Amino acid sequence: MAAEKLRLGVNIDHVATIRNARGGPHPDPVRAARLAEAAGADGITAHLREDRRHISDDDITRLCRDIRLPINLEMAATAEMVAIALRHRPHAACIVPERRQERTTEGGLDVRGGGAGLAECVAALGAAGIRVSLFIEAEPAVVDAARALGAPVVELHTGRYCEATGEARRHECARLATAARHARAIGLECHAGHGLSFDSVGPIAAIPEIVELNIGHFLVGEATFGGLESAIRRMRALMDNARAAATGERSA
Ligand code: PXP
Repeated sequence: MAAEKLRLGVNIDHVATIRNARGGPHPDPVRAARLAEAAGADGITAHLREDRRHISDDDITRLCRDIRLPINLEMAATAEMVAIALRHRPHAACIVPERRQERTTEGGLDVRGGGAGLAECVAALGAAGIRVSLFIEAEPAVVDAARALGAPVVELHTGRYCEATGEARRHECARLATAARHARAIGLECHAGHGLSFDSVGPIAAIPEIVELNIGHFLVGEATFGGLESAIRRMRALMDNARAAATGERSA
């Protein structure tokens, strides 16, 4: 049986972080999105944060207008963000928890405690034809709660896995695999991301129920040394090889 292709969504937030350090237009995240497409990305992910610390409203306008790849808008479940998503109609929206003081998205959504507001947000985006995912911790009960909110997709938080080493990392990987299997079994599409690098991507790419990885910070950092296209191509190859090995196939 042919292995299901594992999609790579390239998150370009930190191209905007570098741009914003000086306040001018360079480097442009939309240019990075074009390069990502040329290098084999399957989608572009961008997080419009409430404080606009990296991606700006204008970046979202230009990404949705000028980039042919599917755009995945990461967003908090707020009325402001829902209105922006409905205006631009990206292919997908990934709802993430957001706290002003955090450096990055530190954990999954509180899908069990966040009930009504989240369900409304999922419904409004879904009704507009936007494919909604919820960024969650890799726990079967949390996966169940995400489905109860009406989301067709979950994205599993890989941060803890990436930070762990040795046996603890293997344990985190097994937890992700169990949650991914459960998501698939109850009819959800399963994505994963956060903190992935050349060293950590293989075991996650090998989990057959995961169909998309969203990767940003490491790729932008690595681009400093060898260029963005080369970093994306290498990540793509590592993902494809790990998936092929796990499903008993050789990649060409
Ligand atoms: N997926 C989600 C939902 C995220 O919030 C982020 C970070 O913005 C990523 C993936 C990508 O994480 P990283 O930049 O660490 O690769």
